[in-house]
Amino acid sequence: MNVTELLRPRTAIDLTKRPRRLRSSPALRALVRENEVRISSLVQPIFVAAEGQPIGEIASLPGIHRFSVDGAVGEARELRALGVNALLLFGIPDRKDAVASSNHDPQGVVQRTIRALKRDLPEMLVIADLCNCEYTDHGHCGILDERGDVDNDATLELLGRTALSYAEAGIDVIAPSDMMDGRVGYLRKTLDGSGYSAIPIMSYAAKFASGFYGPFRDAAGSTPQFGDRRSYQMDPPNAREAVREALLDIEEGADVVMVKPALAFMDLIRAVREVSNVPVACYNVSGEYAMVKAAARNGWIDEARIVDEILVGFVRAGADIIITYHAKAFAERKRRTS
Ligand code: PBG
Repeated sequence: MNVTELLRPRTAIDLTKRPRRLRSSPALRALVRENEVRISSLVQPIFVAAEGQPIGEIASLPGIHRFSVDGAVGEARELRALGVNALLLFGIPDRKDAVASSNHDPQGVVQRTIRALKRDLPEMLVIADLCNCEYTDHGHCGILDERGDVDNDATLELLGRTALSYAEAGIDVIAPSDMMDGRVGYLRKTLDGSGYSAIPIMSYAAKFASGFYGPFRDAAGSTPQFGDRRSYQMDPPNAREAVREALLDIEEGADVVMVKPALAFMDLIRAVREVSNVPVACYNVSGEYAMVKAAARNGWIDEARIVDEILVGFVRAGADIIITYHAKAFAERKRRTS
């Protein structure tokens, strides 16, 4: 059989609905495009190391660096020039203890970075991740009880103290990532009671105990020294519970709720979007970024195409805000190619 014969259908075809009609040219495809990634919806995570701690590129996160305080200000300036106006701060302290004292130190690395950023770049939106795991010697997200379990209510007090010290330094948004019960309500009350009722809380509402955080823990030096985080972070198979967590946080006063990780949890971005009327954020975490970079370095995927698909996938799923290590490079590429 030759090609012409093959192409001639034997059964009569009477097609009027042809979705392919709208895919025939770039202009037509652009005209009917439903979703788009806005640079102004992206948040770049930034790691800032205290003096004496190593700085430079993180091996498992190519293109992502640990900065000094000055370096972080320089990076923020570059982000702003690209239209990325929000960053999420993580501190790497020079001392750790059982009760995360360096986390609420007014001279701590996060507090100093907030002050430097707000002084030099007041328009940049500075969000601080609020957790204890980078500051405890045991690497857990809270204070341990006698049994070695994280004590929920004692940890709240500690989080409140740190939140106030970030507020005093001038933070714009506080993002608690510890997964203690009741922390949004506790933080809201603590902030309001000290005159910080204008500071929004972006809550890591549905945060799962995930293998996708591996490279982050290398970067931040926050791997638990024993056990894991399964007694406070969520169990990955649970979807209903994620919705419950989000609704509880909204009831407690969360201004934004987050789903984390993002890629394997897109159903939950959609589910949380549908039950809530606050903005929904997703966190495209370190392991998700590292996988893309590793495959791209091997020449196995086209990085730019894959990043575009991943980011617009979050928008399609319902995310209003996307926290991603790709933010800066994505904005740079859009600037070059538009
Ligand atoms: C702190 C925190 C973590 C991440 C964000 N905040 C680590 C963890 O919970 O172990 C992970 C971010 C990433 O992997 O990119 N608790």
